[in-house]
Amino acid sequence: MSSQMAQFKRLMAPDIAAKKGVEPIVSLTSYHAHTAAIADKYCDFLLVGDSLGMVMHGFETTVPVTLDLMIMHGKAVVRGAKRALVVVDMPFGSYEESPEVAFRNAARVMKETDCGAVKLEGGRRMGATIHYLVERGIPVMAHIGLTPQSINVIGGFKAQGREEAQWAEIDQDAKVVADSGAFSVVLEAMAEPLAERITKAISIPTIGIGASAACDGQILVMEDMLGLSPRVPKFVKEFGSIGESIDKAIGWYAEEVRKRSFPEPRHTYAMKAKEPNVDDTAQAKDAQDTKKPETGSN
Ligand code: KIV
Repeated sequence: MSSQMAQFKRLMAPDIAAKKGVEPIVSLTSYHAHTAAIADKYCDFLLVGDSLGMVMHGFETTVPVTLDLMIMHGKAVVRGAKRALVVVDMPFGSYEESPEVAFRNAARVMKETDCGAVKLEGGRRMGATIHYLVERGIPVMAHIGLTPQSINVIGGFKAQGREEAQWAEIDQDAKVVADSGAFSVVLEAMAEPLAERITKAISIPTIGIGASAACDGQILVMEDMLGLSPRVPKFVKEFGSIGESIDKAIGWYAEEVRKRSFPEPRHTYAMKAKEPNVDDTAQAKDAQDTKKPETGSN
């Protein structure tokens, strides 16, 4: 099968959009190849989220994340996942300035990672940019509600739409991104009645993170749901306890190294059995030839 045909076995943005009203959309964030390969079996799309700045690199917010960092992790996830659509987040500062700047950077992300779509934060203010990118061949997932890249303006990771007075603006954000051509929209940290109302009002799938079961799909940060993150938001359910397993395994390893019970012989290379070397064989043959009795000539 040509690599171009293989490419089409992967879900694409329209496949995700078509799931609205048909089946719940399953997704997780993913930042590296091995976990992407596992999640690929279960997820419709994997998001290389800029949360990787906090989860993988120890930043306090997503603001310091760069385009190069997103591209590096994006490439790893695309290599690891064979079937799921891979969406790469546009980091803070790479798309807000103008549709042209957004296109240049999003095109770089698509070319260098081979991902199938990008995600960017913002509602009404991003309408023209979403339209510009989609018109030029770049599928866009939007992101409204709590938008972590605006943390310094919002003043904290606060749930949105918990007062009805906030609804009109957020409703409008959802409508604008849908009308501008986004193929889906993340609703982050949003009161359930608002998430439900938006999900019913727009034609593209809503992907909830802390926005209730009313959404068309769900996403969580993989490390949070695996039980690897030291602190998680209220909306996270820990489906695993990987942090505990890692702690136990590393503690066990350290103990065995200190006791010298690891490595054992089965983890150790022995010397190869000595084989006669070529020079030795040649010399032995010469010696034998010199000793040969002279035969029969007169
Ligand atoms: O960066 C991220 O992980 C995200 C999710 C919260 C949707 O944008």
